[in-house]
Amino acid sequence: MLQKRRRLAAVIVPLFLFTGLSAFIPKEQVYDGGKELYEKKCARCHGKDGTKGLFGARNLQISKLDDAGYIRVISEGRNIMPAWQKKLNEGQINLIVLYIKALRK
Ligand code: HEC
Repeated sequence: MLQKRRRLAAVIVPLFLFTGLSAFIPKEQVYDGGKELYEKKCARCHGKDGTKGLFGARNLQISKLDDAGYIRVISEGRNIMPAWQKKLNEGQINLIVLYIKALRK
């Protein structure tokens, strides 16, 4: 009886931990992944906090585009703003969109 219960616990406890953790991890990774990409690809013109404005880059703290607008500008570029659709995949662009929305004041 006791052994049976232990065996059950051996299955259920890790399952619990795994589902519990996996509900938690993605959000953190989304944030970190977006930050890393942003700082590598975008911060040189927009600045780490979004306000640098090199070459007339928009201040991302006061930018008010919706998600579709961000995806379009980042993918296709606009004037001096380069297009990223050949250098970043859809998932990476989505991570960056989440990150730049978090920069808003
Ligand atoms: C070479 C400099 C440069 C780099 C690198 C750059 N941008 Fe830009 N970005 C600009 C400029 C300049 C504009 C203004 C474009 C215009 O409307 O004339 C702009 C505009 C934008 C806008 C539009 C904001 C609004 O409210 O209209 C977004 C969003 C944006 N950039 C995001 C990014 C992201 C994300 C990256 C990195 C993947 C990035 N930019 C990399 C120069 C840059």
